[in-house]
Amino acid sequence: MNDPNPTPAEAPVDEALTTLEFTLNGDRVVVATRPSRTLLEVLRYDLDMVGTRQGCDEGDCGACTVLIDGRAQLSCLTLALLVAGKSVETAESLAGAPRMDPLLDAFDRCNAGQCGFCTPGMLMSATALLRENAQPTRRQIQQALSGNLCRCTGYGAIFRAVELAADIHAGKTARDEELAGPSVLPPALPVPKERKP
Ligand code: FES
Ligand code: FES
Repeated sequence: MNDPNPTPAEAPVDEALTTLEFTLNGDRVVVATRPSRTLLEVLRYDLDMVGTRQGCDEGDCGACTVLIDGRAQLSCLTLALLVAGKSVETAESLAGAPRMDPLLDAFDRCNAGQCGFCTPGMLMSATALLRENAQPTRRQIQQALSGNLCRCTGYGAIFRAVELAADIHAGKTARDEELAGPSVLPPALPVPKERKP
């Protein structure tokens, strides 16, 4: 059987397809794929789940981070067949029913997604952190995201977004004003004096 979805850089390979079954964002999926494919390739090229980024493709940037059975893992270094029977979560899961994950709201409010290339990987590393530690310190956030590179170097906004998401999860809102910072609105114009007729 020919591979119906070759990745962009690869020439057709005479490799028999095999069936892979796993849970993707809560749904059971069955896909015919080549045994040599990585999980990243299966997600993007066999399942059209393009939220997971293909950055360096060699384990350096973290853009391809997904959760496998709840743990943050690099999908570019994971052979797809190894997730058979497991649960895989991608960034798409954060926007799904029943409600949007507070991390998305927080990234938006803190302007943490600049070009957005690293954002899905950041979101998944942060998701794994917040499930394990609902109120992480700044240092713990930095450590949890240390494998995720941001070429736009917007780390400060990203760290603040994770803190805000933790506060939203906890039902706190105290940090909102702090995050908003000083007002950028110009001072009010003087009220014009009434003209005499
Ligand atoms: S694409 Fe996987 S670490 Fe860069
Ligand atoms: S927002 Fe551009 S690479 Fe991180």
